[in-house]
Amino acid sequence: MSQIKTRFNEMFKTRLPIIGAPMFLVSNPQVVSEVTLAGGLGVFPTLNCRSLEELEIWLDTIESKVGDKPYGVNLIVHKSNERLMKDLDLVLSKNVSLIVSSLGDPSKIVSKAQSKNVKVICDVINLKHGTKALNAGADGLIVVSSGAGGHAGPLSPFCSLPWFRKKFPEKLIVAAGGVSSGAGMAASMCLGADAVSVGTRFIASDEAKVDQAYKDAIVKAGPEDIFMSRALSGVNASVMKTKNNMDFYNWDQSVRGKISQYLYYNLMKKGLKLKKKFSWNNVWSAGQSVGEIEDIKSCKEIMKQFEDEYFEVIKSFS
Ligand SMILES: Cc1cc2nc3c(=O)[nH]c(=O)nc-3n(C[C@H](O)[C@H](O)[C@H](O)COP(=O)(O)O)c2cc1C
Repeated sequence: MSQIKTRFNEMFKTRLPIIGAPMFLVSNPQVVSEVTLAGGLGVFPTLNCRSLEELEIWLDTIESKVGDKPYGVNLIVHKSNERLMKDLDLVLSKNVSLIVSSLGDPSKIVSKAQSKNVKVICDVINLKHGTKALNAGADGLIVVSSGAGGHAGPLSPFCSLPWFRKKFPEKLIVAAGGVSSGAGMAASMCLGADAVSVGTRFIASDEAKVDQAYKDAIVKAGPEDIFMSRALSGVNASVMKTKNNMDFYNWDQSVRGKISQYLYYNLMKKGLKLKKKFSWNNVWSAGQSVGEIEDIKSCKEIMKQFEDEYFEVIKSFS
């Protein structure tokens, strides 16, 4: 088993430069542990746990499986996350190697995390936020590009990755969005990334505890079945145009241009009465890489496929 030489693998002592991306309502201790045990680095959002007690159980479960191999958590640093500092303190009392911060300025958490030797890398979709995060002391950036599942950025990875690399030649840059294969991983690294953060591919895994129909829909869907909406959280998110999501899709299309989706989101938060309330609980998100996903299998097999395809692609160019 070969080691791929990248800044990421050196920093985290991983074998494969693959983050099992944090996914709200999807990531769990099984997915995280399996990604880490296969040589990558699994991450979950702390908000997938309803309480600090549950979070502690998840952290302990993962550590009992992975030993001292690296894993991470995702903290939403937006002011709406009232649990932020309590979650941070608990996480820092454990053996976490990485914090992925999202939805805001990471300065509240950076120095505390780094004082415990925990790296902080930040989800960003543009240069302004990337620069701000690095100025706040972050160890690196996850550049979330167009086509990503969850909150996708506006930029093509063909343009954003070389651009971020040129701006920050010494910093850790991780590519997120649209990577579901070893070929996508190799391409991201050719463009300047040190690692990839993979979400959508792991929804269609044995270990993800989501509806079977959600996994099946991912296998069946193509990139053209993904649309963007701001109605779920106020910023652009990728949503599948599947049977389950049709109420949402039809509503979204009918109000486009009539009311602002941002306004809708805020009204909904304030208790707007609707026949059906749309949320991350009943609307399925996935990225454009669904087109490459042809089966549901274990995280271990997915990681092996990434590795095999990566080396095959590299070999075909030499
Ligand atoms: C269902 C779903 C939920 C997500 N939830 C989060 C989250 O809670 N925090 C976060 O930082 N990113 C979240 N993301 C984004 C992923 O971490 C990652 O950036 C993205 O999935 C990468 O693109 P890909 O899905 O094309 O691989 C989510 C993505 C999906 C598909």
